[in-house]
Amino acid sequence: MKITAKTKICMVIGDPIEHSLSPQIHNAGYEALTIDDQFVYVASRVDVKDIQNFVKGIRAMNIRGVSCTMPHKKAVMEYLDEVEDIAKKIGAVNTIVNENGKLIGYNTDWLGVLIPLEGITKLENKTVALIGAGGAARAVAYAVTCRGAKLTIYNRTFEKAKELAKEFGGVAYPIDEIENVNHTDIIINTTSVGLHDSNETILPKKYISKHQIIFDAVYGTETQLLKDAKEKGAKTINGLEMLLNQAFAQFKLFTEYDAPADIMRKILK
Ligand code: ATR
Repeated sequence: MKITAKTKICMVIGDPIEHSLSPQIHNAGYEALTIDDQFVYVASRVDVKDIQNFVKGIRAMNIRGVSCTMPHKKAVMEYLDEVEDIAKKIGAVNTIVNENGKLIGYNTDWLGVLIPLEGITKLENKTVALIGAGGAARAVAYAVTCRGAKLTIYNRTFEKAKELAKEFGGVAYPIDEIENVNHTDIIINTTSVGLHDSNETILPKKYISKHQIIFDAVYGTETQLLKDAKEKGAKTINGLEMLLNQAFAQFKLFTEYDAPADIMRKILK
């Protein structure tokens, strides 16, 4: 144990939080860079009604960095001193950095989408079908449109797809017209379908082709969507890559060191 009175605290908050993999990922990074005397990363379940008090606690305890997961990403924004423009556009803060008492809100979720995608393709003028129109979908919509991709959005509640399309630029479709995705280069699932029942999928296999990239934001064991995509010969991106890449960006914001990506990835596998 290298923790001393000088060690800075970083943490993840959410409700629930017990399933979070962030402490393992970040602490593995601190250890690999031998900065585990300078930083420690813990987790805390925070009730949404306590978020204002929690932010006071960041200031009072001089906590260095906070990762925010559901349901805090939106609620926390009004209590910070500054929110970066991208986080404002996405409408969510997943990262708080305490710069000498000034609390600054960032969003790194969109980088969790962008970096794995750009690792295998250029996005400019590519067609992207986004399935879902919730919080995760907003980070995806920002990431792909900021690189010049053409967006179509499918959602069970059509009104939400239309709103998102209007905001980020794109065309909305009801979910029962999902067969249109077979014309798109990239398909990204941000719905929770497949999260609880690993046999469930939002997209019938017959609409997937080997020329496509299929990205499932759901993480954990491989979803039916990704299994189907692999069987069809399509390229796939697991939600774990989104989790990791948003964490790498947070790591840099918290510690100012580049994240040791390979070691942080290995701890998850
Ligand atoms: P997150 O922040 O993880 O994106 P969210 O904001 O609750 O979570 O959004 C969940 C998304 O999954 C929504 O697009 C939701 O569709 P609705 O807008 O119609 O609610 C979608 N979703 C959840 N369960 C679904 C299901 N069984 N079939 C289709 N879409 C589903």
